[in-house]
Amino acid sequence: MGEYLRRFWQPVCLSNQLKDVPHPIRILGEDLIAFRDLSGQVGVMHRHCAHRGASLEYGVIQHHGIRCCYHGFHYAVDGTLLEAPTEPDKGARLCKSVCQGAYPALERDGLVFAYMGPSDQRPPFELWDAFEPDGETEFVPFTNVFPCNWLQILDNIADQMHTSVLHQPATLFPGEVPADLDLGPLTLPSFGSVPVIDYFPVRDATAMVFVAGRRTSDDLVWWRMNECALPNMTHHAYLFEDGKERRLFHRVHMVRWYVPVDNTNSIVFGWRMFGKKTDPLGKGRRERVGWNDMDFLEAQVGNRPYEIARRAPGDYEAIVSQRPIAIHALENPTSGDVGVYLFRKILREAGDSHSGGDAMGLKTSAKPSANAERLKKYKARMRAAGFSPLSVWVCPELVKMLAMERRPAECRGRVLERLLLGEARMRPEFWAKEEPLAKGKQASKRLKRAACS
Ligand code: FES
Ligand SMILES: [Fe+2]
Repeated sequence: MGEYLRRFWQPVCLSNQLKDVPHPIRILGEDLIAFRDLSGQVGVMHRHCAHRGASLEYGVIQHHGIRCCYHGFHYAVDGTLLEAPTEPDKGARLCKSVCQGAYPALERDGLVFAYMGPSDQRPPFELWDAFEPDGETEFVPFTNVFPCNWLQILDNIADQMHTSVLHQPATLFPGEVPADLDLGPLTLPSFGSVPVIDYFPVRDATAMVFVAGRRTSDDLVWWRMNECALPNMTHHAYLFEDGKERRLFHRVHMVRWYVPVDNTNSIVFGWRMFGKKTDPLGKGRRERVGWNDMDFLEAQVGNRPYEIARRAPGDYEAIVSQRPIAIHALENPTSGDVGVYLFRKILREAGDSHSGGDAMGLKTSAKPSANAERLKKYKARMRAAGFSPLSVWVCPELVKMLAMERRPAECRGRVLERLLLGEARMRPEFWAKEEPLAKGKQASKRLKRAACS
């Protein structure tokens, strides 16, 4: 799997960690340094000098590249040996046979990315819709550090059922919540009800979209759609939605990559998006986003005293306590774990497609495309279908899904059908109303009638 992850550009540190001295990092089991030379180029290199191994974290940044402190070997950002000052010919001969291991690197919106795979198979940096600037949305880079395997952090996203338990801690207490516990910062109020969820492999099974449906009023259904994309990236819908207003579309609220440091340590890198389009309710706290911190919920990182974390656990405690590497063979899957197992399957098959180093069979994650036209069409089709999702991640398959949901015979097991059928059973009085219906409700009601017939 490590070889597979290397076939993609991975974030390795924050731009603002590149200061006047080289920054030591450990990614994918390798000790590296990252730096920005005085001409502005970013370098990501093996940490130990190719001469006799002194650490380049003590190297001196040059106008172009970096110079080892021990004997002054001077390397360009691509690892080329430019000079060996103690050699009679200043290293002219040595430069032909010695170089420093280095990886291609680039910066984007405050994150430094490196490509650590075979040089002849380097893909272009994937530009997803969510990365597009709109002149208003601010991308704030962050890291969250976890002392555990990367996959169980990603599992936590595919596992949306936990939002209605772990993030409603009051439900965990039998009776009164202890007065000295402030559970507010650990609670996502809109996620209180157990959602109806469906999971869809999309884009030739290179990603999984999952849709959580919750009714927020007689008129509104909140559809929250997230995506896990191969190999280790997720797109997140708005976390502060309260479902009180009709809203058609949100930009992605957060993008994350789950990057192994080694088998039992990981760093989640990403961008939190700020601005009116992503946070119309103004709940984000930009000052809490950065190195090992996160704003939308407490306990996203291990920055709380153990005694407090034990009494009021959050995502960090749940994930890390699954052991340094969660043991899948000991798990007892439930119906709420479908997303976890589906994305693991997608990931396993993609990794297998790469086994033996056959790049021809490699499943890459994205076919990210220019968004504007697609989004326009998507919005039009959503309106025409009479649906009003409040918070969505856009993908062409979603349009297909919604089109299918208008034809119940084809949509067995889909979210809307299940939501409506569940409501028909649970709330017959709601569906018995005969007042004139809004367009969206007409579509829903037709579906419900057809589904029940
Ligand atoms: S160890 Fe780096 S120049 Fe000698
Ligand atoms: Fe969570």
